[in-house]
Amino acid sequence: MSEGRQIGEVILDLKNISLRFGGVKALTDISFDVREHEVRAIIGPNGAGKSSMLNVINGVYRPQEGDIIFRGEHHRDMNTYAAAKAGIARTFQNIALFKGMTVLDNIMTGRNLKMKSNFLLDALYWGPAQREEIAHRRKVEEIIDFLEIQHIRKTPVGRLPYGLQKRVELGRALAAEPSILLLDEPMAGMNVEEKQDMCRFVLDVNDQLGTTIVLIEHDMGVVMDISDRVVVLDYGRKIADGTPDAVRSNQDVIDAYLGVAH
Ligand SMILES: Nc1ncnc2c1ncn2[C@@H]1O[C@H](COP(=O)(O)OP(=O)(O)O)[C@@H](O)[C@H]1O
Ligand SMILES: [Mg+2]
Repeated sequence: MSEGRQIGEVILDLKNISLRFGGVKALTDISFDVREHEVRAIIGPNGAGKSSMLNVINGVYRPQEGDIIFRGEHHRDMNTYAAAKAGIARTFQNIALFKGMTVLDNIMTGRNLKMKSNFLLDALYWGPAQREEIAHRRKVEEIIDFLEIQHIRKTPVGRLPYGLQKRVELGRALAAEPSILLLDEPMAGMNVEEKQDMCRFVLDVNDQLGTTIVLIEHDMGVVMDISDRVVVLDYGRKIADGTPDAVRSNQDVIDAYLGVAH
């Protein structure tokens, strides 16, 4: 973890979140908070409710109970548009990119919300629209440099190895210039080298861009290395919350991972 990074106030506060799908209780009465500039990990066995939690934060799922407070504002009915507007971006457990489009164009799609121009205005005022396009391209090129993917900027994403596709997906999320970045298993399925690269980029984003990170990750080594605080879910309930060291030695967590009968 970097020396200069200052962890700030609570910017995201989740209170008593419950989410059900018919009879399935995906999340039961979960509360935790996220502080500005921190790396906050969510861990837990498969089916624990981790992805559902991210989907609640960015408005894909609407919880039946609970409250989401983001920068002091209550979002009882957060939706994906409101979340994106508020500065929340995410990547998905399964890569969701346009496989036939180039790296550059995929990352450009992350700028959608920032683009003011529309087709009619473009026709009437070609000049301003073109200037705007140039500014967006410049931002995208910055991200491409930051993620060290200049050499593949014109390559269709479908032709890239898995690790690089995940990096492009990170790039697209960064194109929205988020204040909070939600990462759903960014290192799953990667080899050791790809994992190390991804770890470094996540830490660079956190450190150099100041972005707050909420991260779901299975690799405990990675979680223990890069997170400031960890929340542990099991069967839709929160069973632990604290520093990596505290969580690692928590008996409930050890039991959950060893599959002790409930
Ligand atoms: N859209 C959905 N419809 C029905 N059940 C769902 C849906 N999304 C998640 N679930 C259920 O909620 C529980 C938690 O899933 P998930 O959040 O994906 O867990 P995790 O990411 O920790 O593996 C699981 O039992 C899963 O089957
Ligand atoms: Mg998941």
